[in-house]
Amino acid sequence: MCGIVGYIGKNRAIPVVLSGLKNLEYRGYDSAGIAYVLNNKIKIKKEKGKLDNLVDKVNSDIDSFLAIGHTRWATHGEPSVVNAHPHCVGSITLVHNGIIENYDELREEIDYQAVGETDSEVLAAYIDYLYKQEKDILKVLNKLKSILKGSYAIGLIVNNDDSLYCLRKDSPLIIGLGNGENFIASDVPAILEYTNKYYILDNGEYAKVLKDDVKVYLDGKEVKKKVNTFEFDITSAQKNNYKHFMLKEIHDQREALYNTLKSYEGVVLPDLRKYDGITIVGCGSAYYVGMCVKDDYEKVLNVKVDVEIASEFRYKRVILSKKHLVIVISQSGETADTLASLMKAKTLGVDTLAIVNVVGSSIAREAKEVLYIKAGVEKAVATTKAFTCQLLLLLMLVYNKNNYQKFTDLIKDVEITLAKEEYLSSLAKSIYKYNDVFFLGRLRDYAMCLEGSLKLKEVSYIHSEAYAAGELKHGTISLIEEGTPVIAIITDKEIADKTVSNVKEVKARGAYTIVITNQVVPNDIADVLINIDIEAVYLPIIVIIYLQIIAYYVALERGCDIDKPRNLAKSVTVE
Ligand code: AGP
Repeated sequence: MCGIVGYIGKNRAIPVVLSGLKNLEYRGYDSAGIAYVLNNKIKIKKEKGKLDNLVDKVNSDIDSFLAIGHTRWATHGEPSVVNAHPHCVGSITLVHNGIIENYDELREEIDYQAVGETDSEVLAAYIDYLYKQEKDILKVLNKLKSILKGSYAIGLIVNNDDSLYCLRKDSPLIIGLGNGENFIASDVPAILEYTNKYYILDNGEYAKVLKDDVKVYLDGKEVKKKVNTFEFDITSAQKNNYKHFMLKEIHDQREALYNTLKSYEGVVLPDLRKYDGITIVGCGSAYYVGMCVKDDYEKVLNVKVDVEIASEFRYKRVILSKKHLVIVISQSGETADTLASLMKAKTLGVDTLAIVNVVGSSIAREAKEVLYIKAGVEKAVATTKAFTCQLLLLLMLVYNKNNYQKFTDLIKDVEITLAKEEYLSSLAKSIYKYNDVFFLGRLRDYAMCLEGSLKLKEVSYIHSEAYAAGELKHGTISLIEEGTPVIAIITDKEIADKTVSNVKEVKARGAYTIVITNQVVPNDIADVLINIDIEAVYLPIIVIIYLQIIAYYVALERGCDIDKPRNLAKSVTVE
């Protein structure tokens, strides 16, 4: 999703903004732009495509000390220079993350003839329209809360006013606090080269940012903000000597899982046994984390556990008892559909628990209770270490009491798994040329297949489907041809022979079968048999790591943009 960076201070603004945008590239985008103040004039440069296209066109040595920049992930209107931000209308130049849902009405109200196709351009025009009336930008920003519908994080500069302004509702925005310089950004990685101190803007708040003063307002009154400090090891946000962030973050899992485990040593975790039902909500991989623990939760807690896609849950009719718990899972803590589902759960009057990676994110702050994973900064769009840390934390919530030792054994098993990287990379060579790959599994194995299939799709662009093994023969088996790769996961002793039969069915039709199992299975069902002799409690974590490594190397063979796959964003802050 789009990235915002703004700078005002003692140093040249352009290189700071461009490097900040570089650190937000993982959020996904398709055009970029920058506006900077020079000799009291606002200059704008915008380019379609990668950020480097913009960097090549902008002279970083210009003595400008105030600038705003943006990487745009197109929501309204195609990726183009016209639609790229910043947008300048009249005295107002702005960058915007989010969606202004009533932009059509606003455009009609001021009879504005748009140049491009974006809601953000209309937003700039509308703010300029108000500014001409009010002549006071802070009064205008205060009025917007009652006018705009939708989500927005806005960075803004005004002609003949050497200040940086910002405003936020439902789309994240922070104010970085430096020494003789200050910043605004969508996310912390954009400012970490310069400071790890920041304010988190809350909904409805707006600010005037100068190089040595920051004033935050709500409803026309100044508010005192808490200074947050982002604790991190800078190398954790760097690629180090890995070819891609994704591979680095796959290898980070040993430390990330250990840190997550360690951070709860001696901590009394929430007691889930007091609830008569649980709903787990997330998007994409976060949803699949919930799918991976559903069976364990129902077995251990003996209550019904529903796992819901957030973009569905937020709109469906939901009836929950007062003793229900809604668990929301989100790496970024900013996914719009998941945040909306959390807010819905709160209006239903039930307890809410967030499992989040990014400290202080919107979901973390809105949930009644939050449990952080310690995955560290995850920059590859395809989640890996956050997924397994969320899975670990959720398993600890139901197994914590008597399996702590088993979880510390997990770390050793992760090391053993990561040591198989070379073997798995050679395996990838046998499937990367295919355009269809199927995953088969039952119950929890099926849930692992869902995540394995998404990983493969995301980074290699191969069409892949995860199928409940018993369902394949009801239609999809018609797609199995000679050599079609089928990856089967068999880890549930009770139903292993059922899935073995399904593997035989596809094999009989020419499939190339890769079987990942901790059971004894007939040798002749697998072209490739991967045995993993591991305890079932945290087995999904190990299987997922196998699937992550396979997906990575298939994508590498196909020459894909692994850390920033086409069309994808790291944090989907719009619905
Ligand atoms: C995972 O590889 C994907 N990038 C995507 O499905 C992601 O899990 C989903 O968008 C949810 O993101 P969140 O965890 O930050 O809420």
